[in-house]
Amino acid sequence: MDSIRIRGGQPLTGSIHISGAKNAALPLMAASLLTDGELTLSNLPHLVDVSTMAHLLAELGVDISMNGDAGGGHTGRVFGLKAKDTLDTTAPYDLVRKMRASVLVLGPLLARFGHARVSLPGGCAIGTRPVDFHLKALAQLGADIELSEGYVEASTPKGLTGAHIVFPMVTVGGTENLLMAATLAEGETVLANAAREPEVADLANCLVAMGAEIEGIGSDTLKIQGVQKLHGADYAVVPDRIETGSYAVAAAITGGDLHLTGTRLELIDAVAEILVQAGVEISEMDDGMRVSRANGPLQGADVMTEPYPGFPTDMQAQMMVLMAVADGASMITETIFENRFMHVPELCRMGANINVHGASAIIRGVERLSGAPVMATDLRASISLILAGLAAEGETILNRVYHLDRGYERVEDKLAACGADIERIRE
Ligand code: EPZ
Repeated sequence: MDSIRIRGGQPLTGSIHISGAKNAALPLMAASLLTDGELTLSNLPHLVDVSTMAHLLAELGVDISMNGDAGGGHTGRVFGLKAKDTLDTTAPYDLVRKMRASVLVLGPLLARFGHARVSLPGGCAIGTRPVDFHLKALAQLGADIELSEGYVEASTPKGLTGAHIVFPMVTVGGTENLLMAATLAEGETVLANAAREPEVADLANCLVAMGAEIEGIGSDTLKIQGVQKLHGADYAVVPDRIETGSYAVAAAITGGDLHLTGTRLELIDAVAEILVQAGVEISEMDDGMRVSRANGPLQGADVMTEPYPGFPTDMQAQMMVLMAVADGASMITETIFENRFMHVPELCRMGANINVHGASAIIRGVERLSGAPVMATDLRASISLILAGLAAEGETILNRVYHLDRGYERVEDKLAACGADIERIRE
């Protein structure tokens, strides 16, 4: 299995192009199941999770053409997805277990074909992550749902019917599944306490381009008027705000100066606010933003993860690394997932001073981290250890790189091009 070796201490300077968002690409690809027309998606990132979703869709019978790069200066992939009228409606355990987002095929399959059999994803390294809100809300649209042999068996003998759904808690995937299902339900569906993440808005905008009728995009109340049929469309995936935030932290933590292109500052408002509090300079540019730290040491700040537009849980581990080398004490409280501090023991092995009390971590800044062999348990933990390695004295070897490859496109190339001493060791 590959590993990544980093020799820390180089300030990063130069320019990094931000890829399309993984967490927008996956539901957008699933949305192709809603129509027999061709959905052409561009700015798709080169990531293992995108390939896994493509594999799942191909297994269901979707024709996928890969048209190479989109041109226009960005490196995104372009897929044409065409879901004919006779598809298999079973998402098997072997694929769902590899990637929880596979569960996003449930809503569209059910809405278009009246039946879906999708393996239950099970827990993962960051928490139990049930899909009960998805299932309860689909039942409110009239689906019969049964759980059998580890699979969700959903059917709608009479088709789906619009309903007023109030999510008990903000759920990104739940909102996406229901949004897709409701586009083909009869009558009006209201999704209240809906997720407002930019990836949800991206999906809604694409569905509108496919002929769906949706009001309230970007708000916590989505109103969908069901239509008989959707058609194909051309759509470009929103830039990845978590990749943007991760490289902003890389600039800050190394005392560097990075120009992040192909992205937008408004996507990372909550992250930028904390970075500015910590002493980082951020300025908006036509094609992205510039992030630098020129003025002395970083300052600690308190952070609480929340649904968008709050501080994203997917940036929690990266911000913790920044706080680990900032002046003073910081507190980070994780409110979305119950087990998302698995990076803490690894950071402590690199010399960080962090104590976890329930859902909060107290971080007392240290002068310098020191390189060490480390191991990551999930995607965001992996990038946080890379960031720690960039700031640390000496050599860090990150093992279990496959987590990183699920969500960061060519991370070592992008960092090396800006002066990082980093390389992948292939095995
Ligand atoms: C999405 O996961 C993202 N994944 C996650 O990104 C992200 O961390 C998360 O949203 C929160 O922002 C994708 O978009 C593919 P949720 P999702 O449903 O949709 C609980 C990354 O690193 N819940 O908003 O699975 C759940 O357990 C990943 O890129 C239920 O209890 O998240 C969690 O505590 C990791 N029942 C909370 O809600 C349900 O039916 C939020 O989960 C659904 C969710």
